[in-house]
This record gives sequence, C-alpha cells and structure tokens, in this order.
Amino acid sequence: MYSEKFQKSIALVEAAREKNIALEPDRMTAKQKEDLLAAFHPDYKKDEFRELKIGPNAGEKVPTELAEILQAHSRITADCVDLESPDYETDVLIIGGGGAGTSAAIEADNAGAKVMIVTKLRMGDANTMMAEGGIQAADKPNDSPAIHFVDAFGGGHFAAKRELLSQLVCNAPGAIQWLSNLGVEFDKTEDGTMVTTHGGGTSRKRMHAAKDYSGAEIMRTLRDEVLNRNIPVVDFTAAIELILDEDGKACGAVLMNMETKELMVAKAKTVIIATGGAGRMHYQGFPTSNHYGATADGLVLGYRAGAKLLYAETLQYHPTGVAYPEQIFGALVTEKVRSLGAKLVNVNGDVFMHPLETRDVSAASIIRECSERGNGVDTGDGLGVWLDTPMIEAIGGEGTIMKRIPAMWRMFEKYGIDIRKEPILVYPTLHYQNGGLDINADCMTTNVENLYVAGEAVGGIHGKNRLMGNSLLDIIVFGRIAGQSAGAKCKEVTVGKMTLDHIAKFESEIEKAGIETQKVSPMLLPDYTRKNK
Ligand code: FUM
Repeated sequence: MYSEKFQKSIALVEAAREKNIALEPDRMTAKQKEDLLAAFHPDYKKDEFRELKIGPNAGEKVPTELAEILQAHSRITADCVDLESPDYETDVLIIGGGGAGTSAAIEADNAGAKVMIVTKLRMGDANTMMAEGGIQAADKPNDSPAIHFVDAFGGGHFAAKRELLSQLVCNAPGAIQWLSNLGVEFDKTEDGTMVTTHGGGTSRKRMHAAKDYSGAEIMRTLRDEVLNRNIPVVDFTAAIELILDEDGKACGAVLMNMETKELMVAKAKTVIIATGGAGRMHYQGFPTSNHYGATADGLVLGYRAGAKLLYAETLQYHPTGVAYPEQIFGALVTEKVRSLGAKLVNVNGDVFMHPLETRDVSAASIIRECSERGNGVDTGDGLGVWLDTPMIEAIGGEGTIMKRIPAMWRMFEKYGIDIRKEPILVYPTLHYQNGGLDINADCMTTNVENLYVAGEAVGGIHGKNRLMGNSLLDIIVFGRIAGQSAGAKCKEVTVGKMTLDHIAKFESEIEKAGIETQKVSPMLLPDYTRKNK
C-alpha cells in the first residue's frame, strides 16, 4: 500500500492501463539509441572516468573508483610470507566460490586434477545466487546458436570477441543439459517442454528459468555437486595477491583469513580467477543489485600481476532496480517482469519506451524520463518510474505472478505492496561489469600463462553491453571451459621458483608515475561505516 503522495500518479497509471496494454510502442532507431546513450547513459559521463597511468592498460580510461583500486598499494610486501613452505599445494587453484568457480571445479575434477576452491565468504555467496530471470540457450526448433550470436553481438554494440561469443552460444544448449543432469529444476510445461521467454534484445524466446530464482536453483545444484565430490573449499579466506614463477607464469596465491588476517600460501600449477563482479564499488554513486562481495578483486589481482583488461570502462546499469521502498533500494526487479508484459510508464501514466529494448538503452531512457523530461515520480529519496506489474495478470491471467515471479511478489509484499494489484517504482541500478580480464577461447589470460579467468571477471564475451540471461550462461560455459583447460594444462606444468617480485615492480611504477594514494587493494568488502564529517 502506497502512501497518499503516490496516489494521484497511481490513479493516472490505473486509468491508462487498458490503453497501455494494447499499445505497441515503437522500437528506437539505431541513431535514436546512439544519441540517447551519449546523452544519458552513465558510461558516457566523461568526468566519471580516469586514465590509468600504470599497468598493462596504461593510457586507457576506466571508472574513477576502479582506477583507484587498480593503482593502489598491495596489502603485503614480498617478505610477509614464506613462499618456500606453502600451506596448500594443489594442481588447480580456483579463486571464487560462485557459479563460475564451482563449474570450473567440477570440470577440473573430471579432468583428474587436484582442485581447491578458496573463497572470501562462503561457497555460493555470489552474484550467481542472486540471479533471477534466467539463462539463455537456443534449443528450440525456431532458434539456433547463430541467431543467438546475432542478438548478443548487436546488443553488445558489435564489440564482443567473436571467438568467445561463439563459444558462449554454441555451448549454451549443452550447458542447459549439463545443469539439468546435475539436478537443476527448470520451469517446464506438463509434457516436459522447457518454458522459455523473451529478454531485452532477444529475437527468440530462449530464456530458461527456475521461476525468478534461477540463480539460486543453479547455485544450489552446483554447490551440492562440489560437496558430493569432496572438493576442498577454504572459506572466509581471500586471495590477496597472485604468485608468479620466475618466468612470470601464475603458480598460486597469497591467502588471507578474513577473520584472523593470518596469511597463507597456496601453490598451484594453474590458477583460475572466478571472483565475480564489481557492483559494490557503487560507481557514480549508484546502488547495486550485486552481492556483498562484488568488489572487483579479480581485476586487481590480475592487473597487478600483468594481465590485460578489456572494456573495463563499460558497466551495466540494470534498468529496473527498486526505487521504492528505501529498505530494498537498488535490489533487482527481474527483466522477466517486462517479458511477462509489464510496461514502463511515467508519472502521468504514459508509456515512454518499448519495454524490451536492450539494457543500456532502457536504463538511459529511464534516466532521461526522470531528468530531462521531468516525468519521474518523486520517491522521497530520489526519482523513479512505474513498472506496471498488474498488466501481467491482465495479459497472462490470474495466478501468473505467483507462478512465474513469486520472489518478486514476496520482496514487495514484505513492505505492504501487492504487485498483482499495484505498480512498482524502479530506477537503474549497477548490475554487471561488462569488461574484465582479457582471455583466449580456452579461458587463459592473453598475457599471463597458466592464469585462467571465468565468469564476470572476464571482459569481451558480451562486448559493451550484455543481454539478459547471458551471464548465468557465461558462468557455466566459461566456468566449464576454464576447469577443463586448467585441469588439462596442469599435467604439463612443473612449477618453477615462486616469487612475489611483481609487487615491488608495481610499487615502483606507482612511485615513478607520481601516484599519491593511501589505498590498498583488493578491496575485499565494501565499507559502509558512516563517516563523521
Ligand atoms: O533481470 C534479470 O533477471 C537479470 C538477469 C541477468 O542479468 O542476466
């Protein structure tokens, strides 16, 4: 139930509902999208970016907050640990216990490698767990990986690395089958056919889901599999520095117990970074849909050790973060809400865009509606637009919301809002890092041997904007490839002398470049302590 101040606008939304359901809003032209993005998308705000002075991407611009942690001091100096007596020895060291890390662990285990997962929180405390809408795969007769490729390539502004995107779409049907075999309960019709829906920018219905908690269902299954296989998991332990051998190849990591701060050494033949995203960096002050641990750690570890980044300047602001109530500010309202028929309407009850434009375009359109056009709803904490959820039941019939998006209903019901009867207020929220470490088709970084990356810490799979459902897909596809590749490669690796020389080298680059900073990185956890002015 909304307070009095919202009622006038809600009445306009309700009055226009029938007309708005029938309305077929035009798609924007390429030129309209280009102009809209340039004027309103946060990625185009030049003042919010800073040029990197050191490291493999020196000369390129990245978000200011990211530049600060990429060019920060290490948490340690080389003499803090004894590399000669490692605390752990394994074939494949996996940093990160989300969907990509666990998929990698299962496949490296299949390859016969000795595997260990290290995670700063617990296995499953990750963005995967929070994913809602679904996972794309072209496995219906009217679809194909080629059509999936075209959708994703266009949605990513034709910037994706073709060999990575091709791996993504061609391995998608197999990924769904793999997850099903492991026990993921995807939504199916009575005859067992997978239920699939559209996402923004998809030309075919290829979104497979487990209601609106698809990520939790996938993570539940992967975690069980890792536990059943007795793969060692060292939790509440962060990787804070990679270890390289004298030839610059990755051969382990320095670990830190999150509670006691005790340092440990893990020696490995191959290392996989699967540390996830960066939403908790709160770029440009945006709220986030991300997990508490999403602080870009993998980018920092890789960059300091010499690995290149690709498209680190591009972030995804999910168009529909919660704008009200305050308690769930920034939380994700799945795109599936729009796939099921809900449209975005402004304070006057007018539809202002096609509901399934790609995410960057949708986010920019909402920002424009609230800023330049002055048609946002004042929430008391900022602005938002309505997402008219009662349209879903008007179109799909009574019961659709409880059947297809029960978690959305529960999230709002806690605050007295029944999304079956009342619209909800949304505004873009920081959701995904499109960029990350640059890898080859076998997931090895392009310039640090034996260092692999999978999941959100990778750059280039999606180009400069990702389509819905291609992230749950990429953690599975590239998690599996990374596990298979690292699991095979470790058989031919003999670890040379382990060193942390890159720390001092990076430190001297900081000094030479005249960078004055007190910051240390990786950040590991966000800092929400209230600062006294
Ligand atoms: O809207 C969503 O459910 C988000 C999905 C995704 O980021 O792939």
